[in-house]
Amino acid sequence: LKSLSDRALGIKPSATIAMDSRAKELMAQGVPIISLGAGEPDFSTPETIKNDAIAAIHGNKTRYTLPSGILELKEAVCSELKNRHHLHYDPAQIIISSGAKHGISNALSVLINPGDEVLIPSPCWVTYPELVKYYGGTPVLVPTHQSAGFKLRAKDLEGYITSATKLLILNNPNNPTGSTLNFAELAPIAELILEHDLWCVSDEIYEYICYQPQSLRSIAAFSPEMQQRTLIISGVSKAFAMTGWRIGYSASAPEVALAIARTQGQTTHHPANISQYAALSALSGNRETVTQMVNAFKARRDYAIASLQDIPGLLASIPEGAFYLFLNIQEFLNQAGALNFKNSVELCDYLLSSHHLALIPGEGFGAPGYIRLSYACSDANLKTGINRLKTALNLIKSNAS
Ligand SMILES: Cc1ncc(COP(=O)(O)O)c(C=O)c1O
Repeated sequence: LKSLSDRALGIKPSATIAMDSRAKELMAQGVPIISLGAGEPDFSTPETIKNDAIAAIHGNKTRYTLPSGILELKEAVCSELKNRHHLHYDPAQIIISSGAKHGISNALSVLINPGDEVLIPSPCWVTYPELVKYYGGTPVLVPTHQSAGFKLRAKDLEGYITSATKLLILNNPNNPTGSTLNFAELAPIAELILEHDLWCVSDEIYEYICYQPQSLRSIAAFSPEMQQRTLIISGVSKAFAMTGWRIGYSASAPEVALAIARTQGQTTHHPANISQYAALSALSGNRETVTQMVNAFKARRDYAIASLQDIPGLLASIPEGAFYLFLNIQEFLNQAGALNFKNSVELCDYLLSSHHLALIPGEGFGAPGYIRLSYACSDANLKTGINRLKTALNLIKSNAS
Protein backbone atom coordinates (compact mmCIF):
# COMPACT_ATOMS: atom_id res chain seq x y z
CA LEU A 1 0.00 0.00 0.00
CA LYS A 2 1.15 3.54 -0.65
CA SER A 3 1.67 5.55 2.52
CA LEU A 4 -0.82 7.86 4.17
CA SER A 5 -0.38 11.61 3.69
CA ASP A 6 2.58 13.31 5.38
CA ARG A 7 0.02 15.66 6.90
CA ALA A 8 -1.86 12.83 8.59
CA LEU A 9 1.31 11.04 9.67
CA GLY A 10 2.74 14.26 11.14
CA ILE A 11 -0.14 14.93 13.52
CA LYS A 12 0.50 13.96 17.14
CA PRO A 13 -2.32 12.56 19.28
CA SER A 14 -3.59 14.95 21.95
CA ALA A 15 -1.85 14.30 25.30
CA THR A 16 -5.06 15.22 27.11
CA ILE A 17 -7.22 12.84 25.13
CA ALA A 18 -4.57 10.08 25.44
CA MET A 19 -4.51 10.32 29.26
CA ASP A 20 -8.29 10.66 29.47
CA SER A 21 -8.72 7.54 27.31
CA ARG A 22 -6.29 5.53 29.46
CA ALA A 23 -8.08 6.62 32.63
CA LYS A 24 -11.45 5.66 31.11
CA GLU A 25 -10.13 2.23 30.03
CA LEU A 26 -8.91 1.52 33.57
CA MET A 27 -12.22 2.70 35.04
CA ALA A 28 -14.05 0.34 32.68
CA GLN A 29 -11.91 -2.49 34.12
CA GLY A 30 -13.11 -1.52 37.59
CA VAL A 31 -9.96 0.34 38.74
CA PRO A 32 -11.07 3.17 41.09
CA ILE A 33 -9.39 5.98 39.13
CA ILE A 34 -9.87 9.60 40.11
CA SER A 35 -9.46 11.74 37.04
CA LEU A 36 -8.38 15.34 37.42
CA GLY A 37 -7.39 15.30 33.78
CA ALA A 38 -10.48 16.18 31.82
CA GLY A 39 -11.00 19.61 30.35
CA GLU A 40 -14.75 19.66 30.72
CA PRO A 41 -17.19 20.73 33.43
CA ASP A 42 -18.63 17.92 35.55
CA PHE A 43 -22.01 19.71 35.55
CA SER A 44 -24.87 18.60 33.33
CA THR A 45 -26.24 20.86 30.61
CA PRO A 46 -28.94 23.06 32.21
CA GLU A 47 -32.50 21.69 31.92
CA THR A 48 -33.93 24.60 29.90
CA ILE A 49 -31.27 24.10 27.23
CA LYS A 50 -32.02 20.38 27.03
CA ASN A 51 -35.76 21.07 26.84
CA ASP A 52 -35.29 23.62 24.05
CA ALA A 53 -33.23 21.07 22.13
CA ILE A 54 -35.99 18.48 22.54
CA ALA A 55 -38.49 21.09 21.27
CA ALA A 56 -36.20 21.64 18.26
CA ILE A 57 -36.37 17.93 17.46
CA HIS A 58 -40.18 17.96 17.72
CA GLY A 59 -40.24 21.15 15.65
CA ASN A 60 -38.38 19.23 12.91
CA LYS A 61 -35.21 21.28 13.11
CA THR A 62 -33.57 18.24 11.63
CA ARG A 63 -32.61 19.34 8.14
CA TYR A 64 -29.55 21.10 6.70
CA THR A 65 -28.95 24.69 7.75
CA LEU A 66 -26.83 27.33 6.03
CA PRO A 67 -23.15 26.26 6.15
CA SER A 68 -22.53 29.24 8.41
CA GLY A 69 -25.32 28.26 10.83
CA ILE A 70 -28.87 29.40 11.64
CA LEU A 71 -29.52 33.14 11.53
CA GLU A 72 -31.10 33.31 15.04
CA LEU A 73 -27.93 31.86 16.59
CA LYS A 74 -25.67 34.18 14.62
CA GLU A 75 -27.80 37.11 15.83
CA ALA A 76 -27.53 35.85 19.42
CA VAL A 77 -23.72 35.69 19.04
CA CYS A 78 -23.72 39.30 17.73
CA SER A 79 -25.68 40.41 20.84
CA GLU A 80 -23.26 38.51 23.05
CA LEU A 81 -20.24 40.22 21.45
CA LYS A 82 -21.93 43.59 21.78
CA ASN A 83 -22.86 43.07 25.44
CA ARG A 84 -19.61 41.51 26.58
CA HIS A 85 -17.07 43.34 24.44
CA HIS A 86 -18.89 46.39 22.99
CA LEU A 87 -18.08 44.99 19.55
CA HIS A 88 -20.42 45.36 16.57
CA TYR A 89 -20.66 42.50 14.10
CA ASP A 90 -23.13 41.70 11.37
CA PRO A 91 -24.55 38.12 11.48
CA ALA A 92 -22.77 37.51 8.14
CA GLN A 93 -19.47 37.82 10.03
CA ILE A 94 -20.35 34.97 12.39
CA ILE A 95 -19.72 31.34 11.46
CA ILE A 96 -21.12 28.61 13.71
CA SER A 97 -18.70 25.68 13.91
CA SER A 98 -18.59 22.20 15.46
CA GLY A 99 -17.05 23.42 18.70
CA ALA A 100 -14.41 26.08 19.23
CA LYS A 101 -11.75 23.56 18.14
CA HIS A 102 -13.32 23.41 14.70
CA GLY A 103 -13.56 27.22 14.68
CA ILE A 104 -9.79 27.40 15.31
CA SER A 105 -9.12 24.82 12.61
CA ASN A 106 -11.23 26.85 10.14
CA ALA A 107 -9.46 30.06 11.13
CA LEU A 108 -5.98 28.58 10.67
CA SER A 109 -6.99 26.95 7.38
CA VAL A 110 -7.94 30.30 5.86
CA LEU A 111 -4.92 32.19 7.22
CA ILE A 112 -1.89 29.92 6.90
CA ASN A 113 0.19 29.43 3.79
CA PRO A 114 3.08 26.93 3.77
CA GLY A 115 6.08 28.46 5.52
CA ASP A 116 4.11 31.03 7.51
CA GLU A 117 5.24 31.35 11.11
CA VAL A 118 2.63 31.33 13.84
CA LEU A 119 3.38 32.70 17.30
CA ILE A 120 2.00 30.56 20.10
CA PRO A 121 2.55 31.67 23.70
CA SER A 122 3.67 28.63 25.67
CA PRO A 123 2.56 26.71 27.77
CA CYS A 124 -0.24 26.29 25.25
CA TRP A 125 -3.22 24.14 24.48
CA VAL A 126 -2.01 20.94 22.82
CA THR A 127 -4.00 21.49 19.63
CA TYR A 128 -2.50 24.76 18.38
CA PRO A 129 0.97 23.60 17.24
CA GLU A 130 -0.46 20.44 15.69
CA LEU A 131 -3.07 22.35 13.68
CA VAL A 132 -0.52 24.94 12.56
CA LYS A 133 1.71 22.14 11.22
CA TYR A 134 -1.31 20.41 9.67
CA TYR A 135 -1.94 23.52 7.58
CA GLY A 136 1.71 23.80 6.52
CA GLY A 137 2.74 26.55 8.95
CA THR A 138 5.59 26.64 11.44
CA PRO A 139 4.61 26.94 15.10
CA VAL A 140 6.89 29.32 16.99
CA LEU A 141 6.51 28.78 20.72
CA VAL A 142 6.97 31.94 22.79
CA PRO A 143 7.75 31.08 26.41
CA THR A 144 5.80 32.75 29.20
CA HIS A 145 7.05 32.48 32.76
CA GLN A 146 5.61 31.25 36.04
CA SER A 147 7.30 34.17 37.80
CA ALA A 148 5.08 36.51 35.74
CA GLY A 149 1.95 34.39 36.36
CA PHE A 150 2.41 32.94 32.83
CA LYS A 151 1.09 36.22 31.44
CA LEU A 152 2.16 37.01 27.88
CA ARG A 153 3.97 40.35 27.63
CA ALA A 154 4.76 42.25 24.44
CA LYS A 155 8.47 42.07 25.33
CA ASP A 156 8.24 38.22 25.35
CA LEU A 157 6.82 38.29 21.82
CA GLU A 158 8.96 40.90 20.14
CA GLY A 159 12.11 38.82 19.64
CA TYR A 160 10.16 36.05 17.90
CA ILE A 161 8.64 38.21 15.15
CA THR A 162 10.29 37.75 11.73
CA SER A 163 9.33 38.66 8.18
CA ALA A 164 7.62 35.24 7.94
CA THR A 165 5.37 35.80 10.99
CA LYS A 166 1.72 35.75 9.94
CA LEU A 167 -0.28 35.56 13.11
CA LEU A 168 -0.49 35.20 16.85
CA ILE A 169 -2.74 32.68 18.58
CA LEU A 170 -3.87 34.22 21.83
CA ASN A 171 -5.67 32.11 24.42
CA ASN A 172 -7.32 34.23 27.07
CA PRO A 173 -7.89 32.76 29.69
CA ASN A 174 -5.20 30.22 28.98
CA ASN A 175 -5.32 26.44 29.02
CA PRO A 176 -3.29 24.98 30.80
CA THR A 177 -2.09 27.82 33.07
CA GLY A 178 -5.37 29.67 33.76
CA SER A 179 -3.56 32.99 33.30
CA THR A 180 -5.72 35.84 31.99
CA LEU A 181 -4.90 39.16 30.39
CA ASN A 182 -7.03 42.17 31.23
CA PHE A 183 -7.61 44.97 28.72
CA ALA A 184 -4.65 47.03 29.92
CA GLU A 185 -2.37 43.99 29.65
CA LEU A 186 -3.65 43.30 26.12
CA ALA A 187 -2.97 46.84 24.88
CA PRO A 188 0.81 46.50 24.23
CA ILE A 189 0.22 43.15 22.52
CA ALA A 190 -2.40 44.72 20.25
CA GLU A 191 0.04 47.55 19.44
CA LEU A 192 2.70 45.02 18.46
CA ILE A 193 0.24 43.14 16.24
CA LEU A 194 -0.71 46.37 14.47
CA GLU A 195 2.89 47.50 14.13
CA HIS A 196 3.92 44.22 12.46
CA ASP A 197 0.76 43.79 10.40
CA LEU A 198 -0.13 40.42 11.95
CA TRP A 199 -3.40 38.55 12.25
CA CYS A 200 -4.65 37.43 15.64
CA VAL A 201 -6.68 34.31 16.36
CA SER A 202 -8.10 34.99 19.81
CA ASP A 203 -9.37 31.83 21.47
CA GLU A 204 -11.76 33.03 24.17
CA ILE A 205 -13.52 29.75 24.96
CA TYR A 206 -12.90 30.23 28.72
CA GLU A 207 -14.01 33.89 28.73
CA TYR A 208 -16.93 33.28 31.11
CA ILE A 209 -14.84 31.24 33.54
CA CYS A 210 -12.95 34.12 34.99
CA TYR A 211 -12.45 35.02 38.65
CA GLN A 212 -11.45 38.64 38.15
CA PRO A 213 -14.04 41.18 39.28
CA GLN A 214 -14.29 42.67 35.78
CA SER A 215 -15.32 40.52 32.85
CA LEU A 216 -12.67 40.03 30.19
CA ARG A 217 -12.62 42.13 27.02
CA SER A 218 -11.49 40.76 23.71
CA ILE A 219 -8.29 42.05 22.13
CA ALA A 220 -10.48 42.82 19.09
CA ALA A 221 -12.07 45.65 21.11
CA PHE A 222 -8.78 47.53 21.21
CA SER A 223 -9.52 49.47 17.98
CA PRO A 224 -11.43 49.05 14.68
CA GLU A 225 -8.11 48.09 13.01
CA MET A 226 -7.58 45.42 15.63
CA GLN A 227 -11.12 44.11 15.19
CA GLN A 228 -10.47 43.79 11.46
CA ARG A 229 -7.40 41.58 11.93
CA THR A 230 -8.74 39.49 14.82
CA LEU A 231 -10.64 36.24 14.49
CA ILE A 232 -12.50 35.77 17.77
CA ILE A 233 -13.21 32.15 18.62
CA SER A 234 -15.56 31.18 21.40
CA GLY A 235 -18.52 28.92 22.06
CA VAL A 236 -20.86 27.35 24.57
CA SER A 237 -18.90 24.19 25.49
CA LYS A 238 -17.25 25.23 28.74
CA ALA A 239 -19.46 27.96 30.24
CA PHE A 240 -22.77 26.22 29.64
CA ALA A 241 -21.55 22.64 30.28
CA MET A 242 -22.23 21.75 26.64
CA THR A 243 -19.00 20.07 25.52
CA GLY A 244 -20.76 17.23 23.72
CA TRP A 245 -23.15 19.44 21.75
CA ARG A 246 -20.23 20.70 19.64
CA ILE A 247 -21.08 24.36 19.09
CA GLY A 248 -18.48 27.08 18.74
CA TYR A 249 -18.29 30.20 16.62
CA SER A 250 -15.94 32.67 14.97
CA ALA A 251 -16.37 36.40 14.47
CA SER A 252 -14.16 37.99 11.86
CA ALA A 253 -13.94 40.57 9.07
CA PRO A 254 -16.50 39.99 6.29
CA GLU A 255 -14.01 38.64 3.72
CA VAL A 256 -12.49 36.28 6.29
CA ALA A 257 -15.95 35.05 7.34
CA LEU A 258 -16.79 34.39 3.68
CA ALA A 259 -13.63 32.29 3.27
CA ILE A 260 -14.46 30.33 6.43
CA ALA A 261 -18.06 29.76 5.25
CA ARG A 262 -16.78 28.49 1.88
CA THR A 263 -14.33 26.15 3.65
CA GLN A 264 -16.93 24.87 6.06
CA GLY A 265 -19.45 24.45 3.22
CA GLN A 266 -17.06 22.06 1.48
CA THR A 267 -15.94 20.16 4.56
CA THR A 268 -18.37 19.65 7.45
CA HIS A 269 -21.21 21.80 6.03
CA HIS A 270 -22.48 22.89 9.47
CA PRO A 271 -22.86 21.63 13.02
CA ALA A 272 -26.01 19.72 14.01
CA ASN A 273 -29.16 21.79 13.57
CA ILE A 274 -30.52 20.61 16.96
CA SER A 275 -27.31 21.60 18.75
CA GLN A 276 -27.55 25.05 17.19
CA TYR A 277 -30.98 25.48 18.80
CA ALA A 278 -29.55 24.30 22.12
CA ALA A 279 -26.79 26.95 21.83
CA LEU A 280 -29.41 29.56 20.95
CA SER A 281 -31.24 28.65 24.15
CA ALA A 282 -27.99 28.97 26.12
CA LEU A 283 -27.07 32.39 24.74
CA SER A 284 -30.56 33.85 24.96
CA GLY A 285 -31.43 32.46 28.41
CA ASN A 286 -30.53 33.89 31.81
CA ARG A 287 -27.04 33.26 33.17
CA GLU A 288 -27.91 31.93 36.62
CA THR A 289 -26.48 28.47 35.99
CA VAL A 290 -23.30 29.94 34.48
CA THR A 291 -22.83 32.07 37.60
CA GLN A 292 -23.43 29.07 39.85
CA MET A 293 -20.89 26.97 37.95
CA VAL A 294 -18.26 29.72 37.95
CA ASN A 295 -18.76 30.21 41.72
CA ALA A 296 -18.34 26.47 42.23
CA PHE A 297 -15.14 26.47 40.13
CA LYS A 298 -13.78 29.37 42.15
CA ALA A 299 -14.47 27.59 45.45
CA ARG A 300 -12.72 24.47 44.13
CA ARG A 301 -9.76 26.50 42.90
CA ASP A 302 -9.38 28.09 46.34
CA TYR A 303 -9.71 24.72 48.06
CA ALA A 304 -7.13 23.12 45.74
CA ILE A 305 -4.62 25.95 46.15
CA ALA A 306 -4.98 25.90 49.95
CA SER A 307 -4.57 22.10 50.15
CA LEU A 308 -1.59 21.99 47.80
CA GLN A 309 0.26 24.52 49.94
CA ASP A 310 0.94 21.68 52.40
CA ILE A 311 3.21 19.96 49.85
CA PRO A 312 6.72 21.39 50.22
CA GLY A 313 8.41 21.93 46.86
CA LEU A 314 5.23 22.03 44.80
CA LEU A 315 4.73 25.39 43.11
CA ALA A 316 1.27 26.47 42.00
CA SER A 317 0.39 29.90 40.60
CA ILE A 318 -3.10 31.17 41.40
CA PRO A 319 -4.99 31.17 38.11
CA GLU A 320 -7.54 33.91 37.36
CA GLY A 321 -9.50 31.94 34.79
CA ALA A 322 -10.37 28.55 33.26
CA PHE A 323 -10.47 25.51 35.58
CA TYR A 324 -6.89 24.28 35.71
CA LEU A 325 -3.91 24.46 38.02
CA PHE A 326 -0.54 24.17 36.35
CA LEU A 327 1.78 22.64 38.92
CA ASN A 328 5.54 22.96 38.85
CA ILE A 329 6.80 19.52 39.91
CA GLN A 330 10.48 19.97 39.07
CA GLU A 331 11.41 19.38 42.73
CA PHE A 332 10.01 15.85 42.44
CA LEU A 333 11.90 14.77 39.30
CA ASN A 334 15.29 13.05 39.16
CA GLN A 335 15.19 12.10 42.84
CA ALA A 336 17.43 9.44 44.32
CA GLY A 337 15.92 6.07 45.21
CA ALA A 338 13.41 3.81 43.54
CA LEU A 339 10.93 6.55 42.70
CA ASN A 340 13.12 8.31 40.18
CA PHE A 341 11.17 9.96 37.36
CA LYS A 342 12.94 11.79 34.58
CA ASN A 343 9.99 13.85 33.42
CA SER A 344 6.32 14.63 33.94
CA VAL A 345 5.18 11.87 31.60
CA GLU A 346 6.89 9.26 33.80
CA LEU A 347 5.54 10.88 36.95
CA CYS A 348 1.98 10.95 35.56
CA ASP A 349 2.31 7.27 34.55
CA TYR A 350 3.31 6.47 38.11
CA LEU A 351 0.43 8.52 39.55
CA LEU A 352 -2.01 6.66 37.32
CA SER A 353 -0.71 3.13 37.83
CA SER A 354 0.24 3.26 41.52
CA HIS A 355 -2.09 5.93 42.95
CA HIS A 356 -4.99 5.69 40.49
CA LEU A 357 -4.86 9.40 39.79
CA ALA A 358 -5.06 10.84 36.27
CA LEU A 359 -3.30 14.16 35.65
CA ILE A 360 -1.93 15.52 32.37
CA PRO A 361 1.85 15.82 31.87
CA GLY A 362 3.11 19.28 30.94
CA GLU A 363 5.05 17.96 27.91
CA GLY A 364 1.83 18.03 25.86
CA PHE A 365 1.54 21.76 26.58
CA GLY A 366 5.18 22.46 25.75
CA ALA A 367 6.12 22.61 29.44
CA PRO A 368 8.10 19.64 30.78
CA GLY A 369 8.41 19.78 34.56
CA TYR A 370 4.75 20.67 35.02
CA ILE A 371 1.49 18.77 35.38
CA ARG A 372 -2.03 20.04 34.75
CA LEU A 373 -4.73 19.44 37.32
CA SER A 374 -8.33 20.12 36.31
CA TYR A 375 -10.71 21.10 39.09
CA ALA A 376 -13.74 20.74 36.83
CA CYS A 377 -14.74 17.70 38.85
CA SER A 378 -16.88 16.95 41.91
CA ASP A 379 -15.74 18.32 45.30
CA ALA A 380 -15.36 14.75 46.57
CA ASN A 381 -13.16 13.70 43.64
CA LEU A 382 -11.06 16.83 43.98
CA LYS A 383 -10.47 16.09 47.67
CA THR A 384 -9.56 12.44 47.07
CA GLY A 385 -7.42 13.32 44.06
CA ILE A 386 -5.42 15.93 45.96
CA ASN A 387 -4.91 13.52 48.86
CA ARG A 388 -3.58 10.92 46.43
CA LEU A 389 -1.25 13.49 44.92
CA LYS A 390 0.02 14.45 48.37
CA THR A 391 0.64 10.80 49.29
CA ALA A 392 2.52 10.17 46.05
CA LEU A 393 4.70 13.29 46.22
CA ASN A 394 5.51 12.73 49.90
CA LEU A 395 6.50 9.16 49.07
CA ILE A 396 8.84 10.36 46.32
CA LYS A 397 10.52 12.78 48.71
CA SER A 398 10.79 10.30 51.60
CA ASN A 399 12.25 7.65 49.25
CA ALA A 400 14.90 10.09 48.15
CA SER A 401 15.98 11.14 51.65
C1 LIG B 1 -8.05 26.52 24.82
C2 LIG B 1 -9.13 25.69 24.25
N1 LIG B 1 -9.70 26.09 23.09
C3 LIG B 1 -10.68 25.36 22.54
C4 LIG B 1 -11.14 24.20 23.13
C5 LIG B 1 -12.19 23.39 22.43
O1 LIG B 1 -13.48 23.78 22.73
P1 LIG B 1 -14.69 22.99 22.06
O2 LIG B 1 -15.00 21.84 22.95
O3 LIG B 1 -15.80 24.00 21.97
O4 LIG B 1 -14.24 22.54 20.72
C6 LIG B 1 -10.59 23.76 24.33
C7 LIG B 1 -11.03 22.50 24.95
O5 LIG B 1 -10.40 21.89 25.75
C8 LIG B 1 -9.56 24.53 24.91
O6 LIG B 1 -8.99 24.16 26.06
